[in-house]
Amino acid sequence: MKVLVTGGAGYIGSVVADELLQAGHQVVAFDNLSRGHRQAVPKNAELVVGDLADRAGLDQLLRSRAIDAVMHFAALIEAGESMKAPQEFFRNNTANALTLLEAMLAAGVKRFVFSSTAALFGNPERTPIEEDDRLQPTNAYGESKLLVERMLTWFHQIHGLGYASLRYFNAAGASRPDKGEAHQPETHLIPRILQVALGRTKHVNIFGTDYSTPDGTCVRDYIHVSDLAHAHLLALHALENSPKNSSPLIYNLGNGQGFSVRQVVEVARNVTGHPIPVIESPRRPGDPAVLIASSEKIRRDLGWQPRFGDLKSIVESAWQWHRAYPNGYPD
Ligand code: UFG
Repeated sequence: MKVLVTGGAGYIGSVVADELLQAGHQVVAFDNLSRGHRQAVPKNAELVVGDLADRAGLDQLLRSRAIDAVMHFAALIEAGESMKAPQEFFRNNTANALTLLEAMLAAGVKRFVFSSTAALFGNPERTPIEEDDRLQPTNAYGESKLLVERMLTWFHQIHGLGYASLRYFNAAGASRPDKGEAHQPETHLIPRILQVALGRTKHVNIFGTDYSTPDGTCVRDYIHVSDLAHAHLLALHALENSPKNSSPLIYNLGNGQGFSVRQVVEVARNVTGHPIPVIESPRRPGDPAVLIASSEKIRRDLGWQPRFGDLKSIVESAWQWHRAYPNGYPD
């Protein structure tokens, strides 16, 4: 298949692009390079630098490249940032997704894999979280993605769009020592901790120590980026082989095990041998206390199996990348 990967220069999109190529698909990576990196795009993929708000550009792209399926990663992702500038999240994540879906409709592209998020659930009613549990985001980021999931149900029902929505819990780790997480500025926990181990910052802040969790800090379910990427391939192949109008594929993706912020720091101390000083700080607005996935559904339906089931191997892979590329990608 010829697959358009929006956000193909980003952390997760670029790893999925690698996997697609390895599986024999063709990849057109589409990215405005506002957050992504040219160097992250695989050599055998075509990179088109453009913006999802440009409907005419999208129309031209989908038709000229004869795209069969779209995987949509391009988005703003930081929950904390969304509580300062929600408008940017509704513009970039929600409005741009609609533009993309309209362009797909016009070009007759019928397969869509959406990067969704655990942030849809807000403070969950139970743990581990199943797909049908209550969707009630506690931050504008989660809401901006939930609105896309809602649109997708109608595009499916009315226009016969075949789609998968993959709700990532906390993506982490590196697929190769020369390919990893490089956000600017970096706000994610594991890279921030590793910046301390590299001596680039003196300490890591722990945002909130008064949550009702065993050690008072937030608990998250960390999933390796390569395991996430593999799930996308399985979802795409399932869409390719599904009969017309079959049900959407909606899956939670995590390891099913939660780690508190303090536990993550401890694992990183073991992996790096650095003491990693911490400063206990106030809560970050919009952070749910605990997010742990049940991924039974995707295991059962598509046979997905994570290869990096333990946090230590996830942190080790991230550490390899950060040590080799302390400044991230050169661009
Ligand atoms: N944290 C700290 N100190 C830091 C950075 C983070 O204590 O310097 C804490 C956060 O408060 C949170 C936890 O570590 O409790 C994880 O924070 P991240 O910023 O690494 O990740 P989030 O859980 O906020 O969000 C990430 C993605 C979202 C996705 C979510 C799903 O950025 O896109 O995981 O669980 F929706």
